[in-house]
Amino acid sequence: MTAAALPFSEAFFTDPHTVYQQLRDTAPACRSELPDGSPVWLVTRHADVRRLLADPRLSVDKSNGNGSWRGFSLPPALDANLLNMDPPHHTRIRTLVSRAFTPRRVEELRPRIQRTADALLDRIAGQGEADLVRDYAGPLPVTVICDLLGVPEHDRTDFRSWTDTMLVPPPDDRSAAARAVGAIHAYLRQLLAAKRTDPADDLLSALIAARENEDRLSEDELTSLAFLLLFAGYENTVHAIGTGLLTLLRQPDLPTDPTRLGSTIEELLRLDPPATVLLRRFTTEDVDVDGVVVPRGETVLLVVGAANRDPEAFPAPDEAAPGRAGNHLTFGHGIHYCVAAPLARIELEIAIGTALRRFPGLRLAVPDSDLRWRPSFRARGLVSLPVLLG
Ligand code: HEM
Repeated sequence: MTAAALPFSEAFFTDPHTVYQQLRDTAPACRSELPDGSPVWLVTRHADVRRLLADPRLSVDKSNGNGSWRGFSLPPALDANLLNMDPPHHTRIRTLVSRAFTPRRVEELRPRIQRTADALLDRIAGQGEADLVRDYAGPLPVTVICDLLGVPEHDRTDFRSWTDTMLVPPPDDRSAAARAVGAIHAYLRQLLAAKRTDPADDLLSALIAARENEDRLSEDELTSLAFLLLFAGYENTVHAIGTGLLTLLRQPDLPTDPTRLGSTIEELLRLDPPATVLLRRFTTEDVDVDGVVVPRGETVLLVVGAANRDPEAFPAPDEAAPGRAGNHLTFGHGIHYCVAAPLARIELEIAIGTALRRFPGLRLAVPDSDLRWRPSFRARGLVSLPVLLG
């Protein structure tokens, strides 16, 4: 299988798993093309994806690529973030982040996340019908990130609208996303300056104060980190909540009582990871994958959505089997493993558990075949999730 091994058609976005299975079986490391024409290599088997995520010959820094990767064009101060950095820069910044992003800070967010989920559901409770992506899965993670970073209440409407425009720009205004990125950048700089003079009990203030020996984060490092937390934290969580709820509506027999909800959520994460295709790396030398040589400088996409359903790693991989053994790769693996995976898990447990308890009769408001998936290879998620509340 060569060019365009991923078809990027509506059928593919609705169900990528048939294509993933063919790739795993017949071309586990193969060349393909993105919709913008960028040439890439796809790797689909669990053992290969996991191994390559921990292989230092694969870099996240675009300067190691051959220039064919286009990706997002962010201002340099935002582009220089953890997810685009290799060691030793990555190690230094990640160490400082870990000093601030402590289990205690994450655990303390739990009651606020619960209050946010309750308030969002209160708002739709009287309506009979709702779109759970627009009304619930979308607003929840932005509020959590605002709580985490310490964005004051009166700035949140602006913050939310810039975030939405950046991630889903209006189709008739191509420069809207760039303007929104500019506005977020300016806002984060201003917020950092305010936290410097008037620190509070939030992650931004903790990041400003974090130090490792005499080392501290610079102004640009803090801004790009805050931006990455927003960017990495928002979209993935929206889609994990939306897709997870859909799977539970389709399979109401899956256990969701408080003691077993956590294991069910691990399976939801395994079956349909939001970052399904896009863990992106550049080869710093020729790398052999299953007997295929990927030359130096090429872009490699590690297809977590395919790896997570590899029968070699997960018997009967398409079935949700809460409590099963094995490591899914939905939060990545190796040095870039999601720094906020514990927070994401809490958000998912609260979001999904609260919606199901509050509306025990929750069901789809449209035939399953009418559901639309976002035409994006960056993040797998529903455009909307229309439901009847019971
Ligand atoms: C269900 C929700 C989430 C999923 C599926 C997810 C997934 C991932 C994955 C796969 C990576 C590794 C990317 C790579 O290796 O190329 C990653 C890294 C990261 N994530 Fe998450 N994430 C989620 C939620 C969050 C949240 C809520 C935040 C912040 C509030 C966050 C912040 C980050 C950061 C900062 C990194 C970069 C870590 C590094 O490079 O060392 N993520 N995430």
